[in-house]
Amino acid sequence: MHASSTLRVAHSPEEFRDLTQCAFVPTMGALHEGHAALLRRAKATGLPVCVSIYVNPTQFGPNEDLNRYPRTLDDDLALAAREGVAVAYVPSTDVIYPEGIEAANRLALTLPLPDVATRPGLEDRCRPGHFAGVQLVVARLFDAVRPRVAIFGEKDWQQLKLVQAMVTAAESDRWPGLEILPLATVREPDGLALSSRNRYLRPEDREQARGVPRAIQLAHSAQRPSTAERLMRETLEAHGFEIDYAVVRDAETLLPVDGFERPTRALIAAHLKWDGGSVRLIDNAAMTLWR
Ligand code: PAF
Repeated sequence: MHASSTLRVAHSPEEFRDLTQCAFVPTMGALHEGHAALLRRAKATGLPVCVSIYVNPTQFGPNEDLNRYPRTLDDDLALAAREGVAVAYVPSTDVIYPEGIEAANRLALTLPLPDVATRPGLEDRCRPGHFAGVQLVVARLFDAVRPRVAIFGEKDWQQLKLVQAMVTAAESDRWPGLEILPLATVREPDGLALSSRNRYLRPEDREQARGVPRAIQLAHSAQRPSTAERLMRETLEAHGFEIDYAVVRDAETLLPVDGFERPTRALIAAHLKWDGGSVRLIDNAAMTLWR
């Protein structure tokens, strides 16, 4: 382990065994203001903060962006130091998956997923195997870091629900007392949710990209989920998106709904494509309750 101001950089769990009762922010790096907000929330717990930086191969499909996913470790460590992080855990794949990636991929697919992760029509349909990889890496990160609290952004709403369900279902002695704290999505002034993948957007794509927050905003005016879904689809198509899904679901179970009497969430995943490039944007927001 070596030091940079008060930030320690660790490559294996043995290097931060002294860190107990911490607040943990798992990331894949390429840190931005959204991550800074997660780190500030972690800091506000009063516990020492640990951030992990690891681009997890098991959550990427064969045709996805694993190889081009932005890797900006020096900047990430500088941001972590500025935010007063105690430990940046930067493991190698050998540390996370000593059995090798192929075996880890196979293992991930054998582990049962909570129902919220496999709801038809959401991430599981578009990115088969994605949540199996997320579940495996988050469990291994929790095992290594043994946090008291872990902070997850609401931008990845289905991931947040998966992690909450996974912690609830875990054996009581695996991550005793671990609390999952959600944090609201941080947005650009034009409404675009912050994401490491926004770096893929060319300046000329920004206007189109605003179609996602606009779609969600329009959905708020609808009195029925089916109307909200139609408005979102129309808005995304008008901005040139190829839609994976644009739906309204129960906020907790992620099952389809036919009214707004219970907390619901509008959820979007859609691709912008251009010659030689593409970006997949996801976003979600709470819908207004109508009682
Ligand atoms: O949300 C992310 O950045 C990743 O899915 C996570 C939770 C760090 C697991 O790799």
